[in-house]
Amino acid sequence: MAAPIIARADHVAKRYGEGQAATWALRDVSLEVAAGEFVAVTGRSGCGKSTLLHLLGGMDQPTAGQVWLLGQATASLSDDALTALRRRAVGFVFQAFHLLPTLSVRENIELPLVLAGRAPGARAAELAAAVELDARLDRFPGELSGGEQQRVALARALIHEPALILADEPTGNLDSQSAGRVLQLLIRLSRERKAAVIMATHSTEAAALAGRILHLADGVAVPAPVAL
Ligand SMILES: Nc1ncnc2c1ncn2[C@@H]1O[C@H](COP(=O)(O)OP(=O)(O)OP(=O)(O)O)[C@@H](O)[C@H]1O
Ligand SMILES: [Mg+2]
Repeated sequence: MAAPIIARADHVAKRYGEGQAATWALRDVSLEVAAGEFVAVTGRSGCGKSTLLHLLGGMDQPTAGQVWLLGQATASLSDDALTALRRRAVGFVFQAFHLLPTLSVRENIELPLVLAGRAPGARAAELAAAVELDARLDRFPGELSGGEQQRVALARALIHEPALILADEPTGNLDSQSAGRVLQLLIRLSRERKAAVIMATHSTEAAALAGRILHLADGVAVPAPVAL
């Protein structure tokens, strides 16, 4: 049986602003990602990678085209239904970490479970160990390095075992050894837990580990750039 499609974008376009100030962040992009797939989205700064991830995660709606998340058209859902679906099905590692400064590392990691009304149990400690932050559970984000904050954000994105993991430059602030560990963790999640993983990255090394690469240029998909 073919793996179910977890996230699908069909001819999506996204415009920010109006009139003279309008920017087309995406012009026409289509993508289907099945359970267990690991797809990298690459392209120069401003080509629309983060915008595409936000649309696929139901955090924003396209200006044209449609997005399906677990088979549901995001435009057809009420705000409450979309929020509930997103909390259940999506784990997002943001480009800026978006950790809550007044919550400890443990509380930040547990947040998705708390929002979903589930008991945190021992998962936070297990995930903190997986990203080698078990010694930092009672610290606050302001006391951590950029790379450590990135790893907290990763643990938080994974704690509720989402069907879709959206990772926006998850290795951007990490040294090569930590970056390698984060990438291996993402690969394992897609293989073993059959999560669909979509990762925006500037790193050709990181993209090379994905099963498939979507190259964007100026809001559209383009063939792989020729290496110089
Ligand atoms: N909220 C916004 N309001 C107006 N313009 C925006 C907004 N968000 C993004 N844009 C514009 O849309 C385009 C695509 O932005 P996006 O953040 O998707 O690029 P990106 O590929 O993720 O870039 P980077 O590699 O620098 O993260 C850019 O020109 C950007 O300036
Ligand atoms: Mg971006």
